[in-house]
Amino acid sequence: MEQITNLQDIPVKELIRSAAEARKKAYAPYSGYTVGAAVLTRELRIYTGCNIENAAYTPSICAERCAISKAVSEGSRKLKAIAVVGGAGGGEDKKLAFPCGVCRQVMREFADPEDFVVIIAGNEQNYRCYYLSQLLPESFGPENLKGKERAL
Ligand code: THU
Repeated sequence: MEQITNLQDIPVKELIRSAAEARKKAYAPYSGYTVGAAVLTRELRIYTGCNIENAAYTPSICAERCAISKAVSEGSRKLKAIAVVGGAGGGEDKKLAFPCGVCRQVMREFADPEDFVVIIAGNEQNYRCYYLSQLLPESFGPENLKGKERAL
C-alpha cells in the first residue's frame, strides 16, 4: 500500500506523542494489548483515548473510538487525522497496531475518507501514514442515507 508523502498541515509527531502518552492509561487486563490514540479535529484540537476493557468482554472499547467519542462529545464532528500506537509488547512492539474494522467505520462517519490521515506508529521515528480510503475502500457512509443533511 502506497503511503502519503504530503503531510504539511498534520502535526504527525505531536499526534504520535499524544497517542503514546494516552496508551499509558489503557485498561487492558484481559488481552494485555494496550493502545493509545490521538485524533486531530478541523479546529486543530487534539483528543486522546485508550482502550478500556471489561470483564464482560463485549462492552470493551478501542482507543480510536474512545478518542473519537471524546472529540464528538465536545462538539467536533469534522476530523482530519488520527495517530494510533499500540501492541502486546509494552514499549517494544514488533508489529504496528492497525485499527480494527469497527474503528475504521467510525472514523468514516466523521471524516472525508480521501483526506483523513491515519498514522500508525511504533514511535516518533517509526510510523506509516495512509488515507482512510486506503484502509476502508469503497466505503459506506452518511451520504449513502437519505436525509443526511439533517443528521450532520
Ligand atoms: N484495540 C484497540 O484499542 N484498537 C484497535 O483498533 C484494535 C484493538 C484493543 C481492543 C482490546 O482492548 C485489545 O485491543 C485487543 O483486541
